[in-house]
Amino acid sequence: MKTQIARVMPDQYLEIPEEELVARIKEHKAELGERLVLLTHHYQRPEIVALGDFVGDSFGLSRDAARQTKAKDIVFCGVHFMAESAAILAGPGQRVSMPDLRAGCPMANMAEIEEVERAWSDLASIGRQEGVIPLTYMNSHAELKAFCGRNEGSVCTSTNAGPAFEWAFKRGDRVFFFPDEHLGRNTANALKIPRDKVVIYDPEDEMGGLSPEELGQARAILWKGYCHVHTHFRPEHVNRVRQRHPGVMVVVHPECTEDVVDLSDAAGSTEFIVRYVENAPAGATIAIGTELNLVQRLALEHPDKKIFELARSLCPNMFRINLRNLLWLLDHLGEVNIVTVPEAVASEARVALERMLSITAARAED
Ligand code: 13P
Ligand code: SF4
Repeated sequence: MKTQIARVMPDQYLEIPEEELVARIKEHKAELGERLVLLTHHYQRPEIVALGDFVGDSFGLSRDAARQTKAKDIVFCGVHFMAESAAILAGPGQRVSMPDLRAGCPMANMAEIEEVERAWSDLASIGRQEGVIPLTYMNSHAELKAFCGRNEGSVCTSTNAGPAFEWAFKRGDRVFFFPDEHLGRNTANALKIPRDKVVIYDPEDEMGGLSPEELGQARAILWKGYCHVHTHFRPEHVNRVRQRHPGVMVVVHPECTEDVVDLSDAAGSTEFIVRYVENAPAGATIAIGTELNLVQRLALEHPDKKIFELARSLCPNMFRINLRNLLWLLDHLGEVNIVTVPEAVASEARVALERMLSITAARAED
């Protein structure tokens, strides 16, 4: 993961009133027209989403990024792995930048390529690497996507984790999934993989903390990683909203722990949650277990429904993007915060990302 050294936003941007920030961002957009596209993730602040050309989840935005053939500049308002994926899928002559390069994802940082390579060697050392298909969650560094690209694996997001697991089981007999244990566990449960065939590989421990027998017989090997925003939700939060709001529907993201998912009425990706709320009848009461900015925006967009958070949980990394650093970026487009990936990594990572796009396209045609 290589990015240009960020020049620091000067303090003068801290003094610009909000209306002026918005007006100047709109001026840049009007001037650049189709040459600029602003992608905003659902977890962004409302004032950022309002300025975006597209709002979506990590899968939708990666697809949107790949389709922006007319844009020279793709500005990604989200976290680093998303911008990095957009940079990998971008066409020749296109540039991807983000308002704050420090907007990372702690879960993505929980799996480094050296650790994943070590786990892969562990499988080889017990003679059980053959038939294992590696799948990396979109929330990962480009090097992990490249690893999947060169080892017959794929990328997936929470939108297509189920189809990606099924795709993997058609090509091999076991899945090695990183870095989110909980999305892996919830996906394995949905596919009815027996519990004793699902193991957790802890990179802190030798052989992942597993015996050769445990590692060798597993159908799903899940990396021990998690999202602190989603593991914040606990079963007691679900029980509390059910007590306080009889008839409430509880919907959560699959990065939540299994016990929370089991107690909920539905679990699915960010895009699934958006559709769930849209499709609920007027007057419905819905408690949502995902990032706070999205929940608050859904509540505003659906005044005919009672929508609230299961508990308050904000992603501090998504929150780093604001009107000030967005304007600063647009004032210096092409000079600061460009996200680049070395071609040797990008070419292999692209293979895995394109596999993901085609797995989902094939599913849509079924
Ligand atoms: P989505 O894939 O649903 O956009 O989620 C990304 C993410 O970071 C969730 O925490
Ligand atoms: Fe990463 Fe969690 Fe934030 Fe998503 S919500 S970007 S997984 S820390």
